[in-house]
Amino acid sequence: MFHFPQWTNTALRVLLVALPASAAYGAWVLMAATDPATTHVGYAPEQPVPFSHKLHAGALKMDCRYCHTTVETSAHAAVPPTQTCINCHSPADGNGAVELTAVHAGSRKLTEVYRSWAEGTPIKWNRVHDLPDFVQFDHSAHVARGVSCVSCHGRIDRMDVVSQDHTLSMASCLSCHRNPEPHLRPLDRVTDMDWVSPEPTDSLEELVRDHQNIKANQNCSTCHY
Ligand code: HEC
Ligand code: HEC
Ligand code: HEC
Ligand code: HEC
Ligand code: HEC
Repeated sequence: MFHFPQWTNTALRVLLVALPASAAYGAWVLMAATDPATTHVGYAPEQPVPFSHKLHAGALKMDCRYCHTTVETSAHAAVPPTQTCINCHSPADGNGAVELTAVHAGSRKLTEVYRSWAEGTPIKWNRVHDLPDFVQFDHSAHVARGVSCVSCHGRIDRMDVVSQDHTLSMASCLSCHRNPEPHLRPLDRVTDMDWVSPEPTDSLEELVRDHQNIKANQNCSTCHY
């Protein structure tokens, strides 16, 4: 009996999702091509709080993982809850007393943070990066293997407002998956935006040895259900 190779199943499913041979497909492509949330580069939605990565991650040198706590361990990189902001931006109490950790207490820019904290409802951050639903992406698979945030998100530490820096097209994923080695770095440097690859010395050899078993997959089923 003839068996199709396993990848055709996934490819067919993807094609069924993505390529119905109908006018709807044309409309979908047009929409996908004009929706800034998917055509991507430069997309920078306005946020409910003028939160600046340039200030917090750049000037104050806070590690990405202080706020995006799950980025090394799960598929999704958690956006921090209001509690994380309150660690430094606690509001004045009922009597107007201000804690030591109340940076810029009473600032109008923090109004939405105080509201969220008082009411116990989250701040509605707007998504910047958003892959179509038929693609699966996993942060931990990358970050825990030595691929830095900067490879996909650019210099977030220099952005007042986060904007999409790289296209997240299939071609961009594949171009790294074909040859990931130049994009790998020591694990303790994954959030260091300034890190540059050392000259080909012992430490580079060590790095390569560290990453010996990494072979990013190019099967359709790696990224498509
Ligand atoms: C003080 C907390 C904090 C730190 C530190 C921080 N972030 Fe963020 N990050 C946020 C918040 C809040 C948002 C949502 C609002 C926004 O997009 O600005 C966010 C959004 C993002 C987004 C966009 C998410 C989306 O919707 O697509 C990326 C990418 C990101 N951060 C990467 C980083 C990287 C890389 C670093 C380290 C260089 C970092 N962040 C450090 C709090 C933080
Ligand atoms: C580790 C401490 C720390 C954490 C956590 C933190 N911030 Fe800040 N934030 C600061 C400091 C310090 C400043 C002021 C820097 C300055 O003025 O030079 C600041 C400034 C700001 C400002 C500008 C206020 C103004 O009036 O200019 C906003 C808005 C802000 N933070 C939002 C947030 C949000 C939202 C979060 C949570 C996602 C957050 N911060 C988490 C330390 C922190
Ligand atoms: C290999 C590329 C890649 C790397 C490395 C990477 N990201 Fe992402 N990131 C993405 C993609 C793609 C998305 C959109 C995911 C989606 O829509 O499902 C995203 C989304 C996000 C989001 C929004 C929440 C989410 O999970 O969708 C945050 C926050 C974020 N990244 C932070 C980070 C931080 C911090 C690092 C480094 C510690 C990092 N990313 C490393 C590609 C990457
Ligand atoms: C800069 C390099 C780079 C980019 C860009 C990149 N990847 Fe990866 N990817 C890797 C590496 C390295 C691994 C880990 C391979 C390993 O563990 O052996 C990986 C692993 C994965 C895995 C887990 C595979 C498994 O076998 O568990 C998925 C899923 C994935 N990537 C999806 C994507 C998608 C979707 C994109 C584009 C949005 C993307 N990647 C972009 C380098 C990259
Ligand atoms: C490393 C991850 C990765 C692998 C491997 C991969 N894809 Fe994709 N694919 C993506 C991403 C990301 C998108 C979404 C691109 C966008 O939104 O522009 C996508 C989109 C698509 C689309 C929708 C049309 C388009 O171009 O936007 C089809 C069809 C598709 N992939 C088929 C396949 C097939 C067939 C294979 C195996 C030969 C495959 N993909 C392997 C990441 C991958």
